[in-house]
Amino acid sequence: MQNRSLVSITDYNKEDYLEILDRAAEFEKNPRRNLLSDKLVATLFFEPSTRTRLSFETAVQRLGGRVIGFADAGCSSVTKGETLKDTIKMVNNYVDLIIMRHPLEGSARYASEVASVPVINAGDGANQHPSQTLLDLYSIQKTQGTVENLNIFMIGDLKYGRTVHSLLMAMSYFNPTFYFIAPDALKMPVEYKIYLHSHGIRFFEYPDFADIIHEADIIYMTRVQKERFSDLIEYEKNKNAYVLNNALLERSRPTVRVLHPLPRVNEIDIDVDNNPKAYYFTQALNGVFVRQAIIAKVLGL
Ligand code: CP
Repeated sequence: MQNRSLVSITDYNKEDYLEILDRAAEFEKNPRRNLLSDKLVATLFFEPSTRTRLSFETAVQRLGGRVIGFADAGCSSVTKGETLKDTIKMVNNYVDLIIMRHPLEGSARYASEVASVPVINAGDGANQHPSQTLLDLYSIQKTQGTVENLNIFMIGDLKYGRTVHSLLMAMSYFNPTFYFIAPDALKMPVEYKIYLHSHGIRFFEYPDFADIIHEADIIYMTRVQKERFSDLIEYEKNKNAYVLNNALLERSRPTVRVLHPLPRVNEIDIDVDNNPKAYYFTQALNGVFVRQAIIAKVLGL
């Protein structure tokens, strides 16, 4: 049987994205369907998570399925030296689907090669977070009425932020113009810029966004990822690089929406939460419907 794992956003194409968006809209209208009544799903989180794990587990349970797993590798036999390969081979025998977050880049691809059941990558290091990307696309479509021809601002930690890497690749099907705003130490890695060049996608890089914010359709804020820095002095230098506030948003289009994969630290002022342009909490809710659609797709339901 074909392995239907979702490891990288590039495992799917434009038709797959649009299919997920359509199915997510159906699940949003009717989230409680009994599609998974005979299914058991494992959520293996070797790295902390609030939204991704809980929204996946909500998605499974609302579809009538059951969940096993761990939220902290510290309570698994990894602490006794068990390898990822052995862990996956064991869990593979228990369940119909594995959803995994792991700090090592490439770990999800490796797990998908070891497992015979599908694996969904819930984040592997600074590499990929494809389910986040699909819920980002869904949120963009819902707020803008389209995913085509938009000006997308990506602001903050563009080096370690896996969500921006996956989103950039997915959006490349839809003729975006990207504006990358990051401190020198956290710029978009060169391999993603090469990817954009090779796909004919326009992008600009700026050190700040106050004077260009009026161009944005979507402002995608990101957290400076403390856990990925080997040198904490470097983190301290960059952690407050950008803070979005209501004064800055006054210069933006009425239709602009502020997205953030969350968790937020201080890159969006809490006053923005009540601004109609703030969309990040609804974006997180959208994650349930989109993850229902992803699960249904990988299980061929
Ligand atoms: N957006 C996201 O991945 O959040 P969590 O780390 O809380 O899962």
